[in-house]
Amino acid sequence: MRAAGPSARMALALLLLAEASAAASPSAPPLFNVSLDAAPELRWLPVLQHFDRDFLRASMAHIIGDTVPKWVLALIRKAAWELELFLPQPFTDEIRGQCDALNFTLADCILLNLAYESTAFCTSIVAQDSKGNIYHGRNLDYSFGNFLRKLTVDVQFIKNGQIAFTGTTFIGYVGLWTGQSPHKFTVSGDERDKGSWWENMIAALFQRHSPVSWLIRTTLSESENFEAAVYELAKTPLMADVYYIVGGTFPQEGVVITRNRDGPADIWPLDPLNGAWFRVETNYDHWKPVPKRDDRRTPAIKALNATGQANLSLETLFQVLSVFPVYNNYTVYTTVMSAASPDKYMTRIRNPS
Ligand SMILES: *[C@@H]1O[C@H](CO)[C@@H](O)[C@H](O)[C@H]1NC(C)=O
Ligand SMILES: *[C@@H]1O[C@H](CO)[C@@H](O)[C@H](O)[C@H]1NC(C)=O
Ligand SMILES: *[C@@H]1O[C@H](CO)[C@@H](O)[C@H](O)[C@H]1NC(C)=O
Ligand SMILES: *[C@@H]1O[C@H](CO)[C@@H](O)[C@H](O)[C@H]1NC(C)=O
Ligand SMILES: *[C@@H]1O[C@H](CO)[C@@H](O)[C@H](O)[C@H]1NC(C)=O
Repeated sequence: MRAAGPSARMALALLLLAEASAAASPSAPPLFNVSLDAAPELRWLPVLQHFDRDFLRASMAHIIGDTVPKWVLALIRKAAWELELFLPQPFTDEIRGQCDALNFTLADCILLNLAYESTAFCTSIVAQDSKGNIYHGRNLDYSFGNFLRKLTVDVQFIKNGQIAFTGTTFIGYVGLWTGQSPHKFTVSGDERDKGSWWENMIAALFQRHSPVSWLIRTTLSESENFEAAVYELAKTPLMADVYYIVGGTFPQEGVVITRNRDGPADIWPLDPLNGAWFRVETNYDHWKPVPKRDDRRTPAIKALNATGQANLSLETLFQVLSVFPVYNNYTVYTTVMSAASPDKYMTRIRNPS
C-alpha cells in the first residue's frame, strides 16, 4: 500500500497532464462534401453513413425533448403535413431525406431544425488589419455541448464540381450559423434573445418567415458579393431576432446587423478610418451596456486592443477567441475565416472530452 501511494499519485499526475494537453489541443471536426447537384433527399446520406445511427437518434431525441415545449411538439406534429407544403426548399427535402434514413418522424426533424435555444451564447468578431485584410471569427457556445461536439462538421457544398460555399453545422441540421462564400463574404449568426421566443416563432412560422440559419445558407448560396449579402440578411423576414455578422474581401467590408423579425434594427459597420478596426458582437445590442453577469464583450475588446491592428491574423483572432470567458465551458467550436483566403477556413472543436 505504501509503495502504491507515490505511483498512484504519479499516475494521477500523468492523467491530469494528458487531460490538460487534450484540452489545450482542440481538434478539427470531420470535413465532408455535400453535393448540391444530387437530389436534396439524397445529398446528406453519404455524410450520415459516417455516424453511428443509435448515437444520432439518441442525441436528437435528447435535444428535442429538452428544448421544445410539449405543446409546441404537439402542435408541430399536427401541422407537419402543412409545414411541409410551405417550408422552403431545398431544406424540407433535405430534412425529409435524413429523417427517413434515421427513422424519425418528419415533425421531429423539422423541430430539431427550428430549435433556437434560448440559452445559447456566442461571440462573433469581424476585423480589418492594417493592410486592409478582413478577418472574421466566432465562438459557438451551447448548453448541449457534449452531444453537439460529436455532431459538429465542416461541410463544403459542391455545385458543378466547385466549392460553392463552406459552412459549419451539426449533423441533421441543414441551416448554417457559420459559413463562407469563397472570395465573396463570410457570415456568422449570434442569438438575440427576446424572451418567449416559441410563441413568436410559431406565429412567424405560419407567416412563412425564414428560420435565421436557413437565411444564412440561402445568402451564401445566392448572393454575389458582400453588399448583396448584407442587403439580403438585413431585409428578409425572419422567424426570430438575431445578430448577423458579415465580413467581405475589401477594406471596410465588415458589419454587425441587428435583426428584428421584420427587418433591420441597426446596421453597425467597421469604421477603420476612425479607429474602429473591429466589431465585437456577443448576444446583446451593441448600443446598450452589457449585463455584468455575462460580459464576454469587454474581455474580447481588451484582447483585440492588446493584439493591435498590425498583428491581426487568423491565428491571433483564434487566440482572442480563446480568452476566458469569451471561450468558456459551453464553447462547442471556434471558426476563423477570411473570404479572400477561402482555403484558410478553420474550425476547431473546443472543450473536447
Ligand atoms: C422505425 O420506427 C418505427 C416506429 O417507431 C418502427 O416500428 C420500425 O421498426 C423502425 N424501423 C427501423 C428500420 O428501425
Ligand atoms: C470535395 O470536392 C472538392 C471539389 O470538387 C474536391 O477538390 C475535394 O477533394 C473533395 N473533398 C472531399 C473531402 O471529398
Ligand atoms: C480599447 O481601445 C480603445 C482605443 O484605444 C479604447 O477607447 C477602449 O477603451 C479600449 N477598450 C478596452 C476594453 O480596453
Ligand atoms: C506585434 O507585432 C510586432 C511586430 O511583429 C511585435 O514587435 C509586437 O510585439 C507585437 N505585439 C504584440 C502585442 O504581440
Ligand atoms: C468549467 O469546467 C471546469 C471543469 O469541469 C470546472 O472546474 C469549472 O468550475 C467550470 N467553470 C465555470 C466557469 O463554470
